[in-house]
Amino acid sequence: MTPATQAAHFINNRWTAPASGATLPVVDPSDGDIFAYLARGNAADIEAAVRAARTAHDGGDGPWGRFSAVERGRLMMKLAQAVVDHAEELALLECRDTGKPLAQARADTASFARYFEYYAGACDKLHGETLPYQRGYTVMTLRCAHGVTGHIIPWNYPMQIFGRSVGAALAAGNACVVKPAEDACLSLLKFAELAAAAGLPPGALNIVTGFGHEAGAALAAHPDIDHISFTGSPATGSVVAQAAAANHRPVTLELGGKSPQLVFADADLEAAIPVLVAAIIQNAGQTCSAGSRVLVEEAVHDEVVQRLAAAFAALRVGPGQADLDCGPVINARQRARVQGYIDQARAEGLQVAGTGTLAAAAPQSGFYVLPTVFANVPPAHRLAQEEVFGPVLATAPFTDEADAVRLANGTPYGLVAGLWTRDGARQLRMARKLHAGQVFINNYGAGGGVELPFGGVKHSGYGREKGFEALLGFTSLKTVAIRHD
Ligand code: NAI
Ligand code: MG
Repeated sequence: MTPATQAAHFINNRWTAPASGATLPVVDPSDGDIFAYLARGNAADIEAAVRAARTAHDGGDGPWGRFSAVERGRLMMKLAQAVVDHAEELALLECRDTGKPLAQARADTASFARYFEYYAGACDKLHGETLPYQRGYTVMTLRCAHGVTGHIIPWNYPMQIFGRSVGAALAAGNACVVKPAEDACLSLLKFAELAAAAGLPPGALNIVTGFGHEAGAALAAHPDIDHISFTGSPATGSVVAQAAAANHRPVTLELGGKSPQLVFADADLEAAIPVLVAAIIQNAGQTCSAGSRVLVEEAVHDEVVQRLAAAFAALRVGPGQADLDCGPVINARQRARVQGYIDQARAEGLQVAGTGTLAAAAPQSGFYVLPTVFANVPPAHRLAQEEVFGPVLATAPFTDEADAVRLANGTPYGLVAGLWTRDGARQLRMARKLHAGQVFINNYGAGGGVELPFGGVKHSGYGREKGFEALLGFTSLKTVAIRHD
């Protein structure tokens, strides 16, 4: 049985029927067809998964808890290889499940493998310190796994977000319970099967599928989860953090953004324009770090808008498998939400500078939205303030550096910022002033490097994922003081 043809959780390395017997349809966003069913998990399924994870860890004595750092690293390298060996199958599943263009699904698969490779190499470099203290003492810190970690994953980049979260948690020695999004689970279920075959002990990785308000809420509130990591909307992030707070459990939240790209008159526009377009078009704009605002110095504003409009006019939208510039958005609700932003802004008379086109082959029943760039969007407008999570770009002019910083920082979010200028002193000044967890100068995203710590400030959340920093978040520090004279 392949995961796409059954409706089961993956608990203790076994396909496990949902306690309620209920299922959920899996819809292909490219044509709206149901092509599989998922298990609709509830609190009983979460309970079984948490118990399996606890037994696997068991304070360092369980079958997974006993793995030394070196052994964990070797096993994680096998998981990376398993992804590489099944890359095309995983990419095709991700493409169908999310509607993303095949090239994006392939890139996601490569990143997924890379997370396991990176964290494989990090397992045996994660260590505590010895601290200078009073005479007669030796003091050290131990980096301990939390134990059982919970992971609530969104639908936009299932493999990448699972990789950065579960990859780091496993590397630090935790056993994991994962609740993927109801809209995109299939690649992760397939991975769980591959991980078991590669030798990951039962209970080290458990996946319970289902709705957020059922399985997700049960996971966030479970008293025997030691840490929760969540990526998704600010509203759900608050609900998850409040549930975890009742048990005084730490949480990492990554809640998206309204990330600006600032283009100064001295920028290399030839280099900037394709990057500005890709930063909002990638994954149909359903990217937490999407560059959804372009702020341009007045002197080059009109030229930049014209060039963006020309680039948007060339964009083609169609089924994921057709591998065009843009696929559908994830579901009918998201389509209505994104189209609602566009229609409202048009109705208010906001200036549409350019749109893409729908490929003739795109089924009517798919969840397509035409990429749209709006010019001169007022800073207080919802298109300049709210995360649309679709292929919608808002541009606006700025007068000088101070104005640019004020506009860039003038939203509730602070995830990523892009800066295009050749002026080195300005690059350094602005990198410090921008409210963001990542600042990219004369590029955007730096190729998405798994090595680069990622996370936000303000309503974009807290805690850091990716890089070595993420490993630290999946441990707790224990101080051991020894008196010896
Ligand atoms: P969401 O935040 O509700 O869903 C994300 C995950 O949380 C899913 O796995 C979902 O099942 C789970 N979840 C939902 N309610 C829960 C609850 N009460 N307790 C525990 N888990 C729960 O986001 P949704 O509704 O899918 O998308 C709405 C908007 O959220 C998007 O338009 C976008 O603006 C934002 N979003 C941001 C993401 C990011 O990468 N930062 C990813 C997905 C959505
Ligand atoms: Mg799906």
